[in-house]
Amino acid sequence: METPAPWHTDPACEHRVACKFQTHYCTYIRVPKLLTLQPASKNSDELIFIVAAQARELWMRVMLSDLAALKNADTGQAQKLLRRDIEIVKLLDLQSNTVETILPRAPIALRAQSAQLARLMHATRALPRDETAREFIARLRAWRARDAKWMRVSERGRAYEKYLRVSELLQLQNAPKMDWAAVGQSPNALSVPEQIGADEVMFVVVHQAFELWFKALRDLVERSIALLFADQVVETTRMMHHAVVIQKLLAQQIHIPATMTPHDFLAFRNETKIADGKKMWRGLSPASGTESYQFRELEIASGLRDNPTYQEFLRGHADLTTRFLTATQERRMAQPSLADAFDQLLARRGVADVIEIFAPHRQTDLADLADALLEYDEFFYLWRVNHIVMLQRMIGEKPGTGYLGLGYLKETAGLAVQGVERIFTQVQKRPRFFENLWHARSRFK
Ligand code: HEM
Repeated sequence: METPAPWHTDPACEHRVACKFQTHYCTYIRVPKLLTLQPASKNSDELIFIVAAQARELWMRVMLSDLAALKNADTGQAQKLLRRDIEIVKLLDLQSNTVETILPRAPIALRAQSAQLARLMHATRALPRDETAREFIARLRAWRARDAKWMRVSERGRAYEKYLRVSELLQLQNAPKMDWAAVGQSPNALSVPEQIGADEVMFVVVHQAFELWFKALRDLVERSIALLFADQVVETTRMMHHAVVIQKLLAQQIHIPATMTPHDFLAFRNETKIADGKKMWRGLSPASGTESYQFRELEIASGLRDNPTYQEFLRGHADLTTRFLTATQERRMAQPSLADAFDQLLARRGVADVIEIFAPHRQTDLADLADALLEYDEFFYLWRVNHIVMLQRMIGEKPGTGYLGLGYLKETAGLAVQGVERIFTQVQKRPRFFENLWHARSRFK
């Protein structure tokens, strides 16, 4: 196995791959570079603020690229792009709900506003005034007014573009992937497509927006673990409520890829051409969301670190072209998870059986915490299900680019067990992080 070929000066991702030039999720989405663009902050509020503001810039990048594509689009394509932008504005509105719930007031004042937002408003002037365009403009204006009330703009604030690293952020959508290679041969270089279409920009951005929010979730989970060890139950519950609000946003965000059609997706998922009489291809395979190292760190830190099937899965399989387990994840495996921290808290508080905390008027702080943890678990599971349903809409039962496919995902969610097509011999059902809390529900009298 080799180290993935570096893309410019992007930091390494720690994965090992079969061919250094294969399309790799971390390179394609530019994950390691993206995660350097948030300054280390002492409190979770600032990170959430930055993540939300950067995600907002990314979504505006998609809308601007859609509006540019509209100029050469036929009516059907134009309607599709505008409808996507309506969905994005709805998502931004939900994101505003999320952020306003966690941070009733912007924690940091910024000098000036987003240059992309001004360009976007300007670009809407050239739109035809049909029903879809009118809806898009009305929603965008309503969201902008809401956003302007929340965002603190001050002459003495931080410089908007510099603080949010906007220009660097907006250079991460060039989608580096494997170079053209003869079918059945390995690529010899990485390349960026000559032109990135509006759908591929959206596809890269939706993953980047997820990676930003995964970072915020990881931060909340790690802070919650530390707080639990310091017996700060109420503050942990607050943190977990924040995590759930973010998960609810992600439950909507996972449907954004379906704003392109299956054919739009196939156009860049797997491209072929004939050169010198040979069939050549390039595409997304074997890159896959399974290579999202932050998603794994979230699973490990939340409670999967103790599960032997999961540990074996992370160590990898000879038939797969990526080894998932990174050195950082191995180190994280050796540290307590959220589930461990909760169990140890219960032991310190003298709770022998978790059902005791739900008895009326007993240890209400623990009962509130348990409910927040259960909801976090619930929305993690719902993410799995939403992702499965969305991808069925996009690719049906086609094999996944990462070779694991729909069957594997259904198995992780406990919806089905794979047949002969399985790669891992053990059933990959992922246990819930707080099985004891779920079981207690059946024992309530
Ligand atoms: C058109 C959109 C998408 C399709 C068709 C799709 C398809 C798939 C498939 C088939 C897998 C199983 C592994 C494989 O064979 O590749 C997978 C795994 C995964 N995908 Fe997606 N996906 C899409 C969008 C996303 C997005 C937006 C995210 C957000 C980060 C994401 C995150 C993941 C993660 C984390 C896994 C691993 C899940 C696990 O191992 O439990 N996917 N995806």
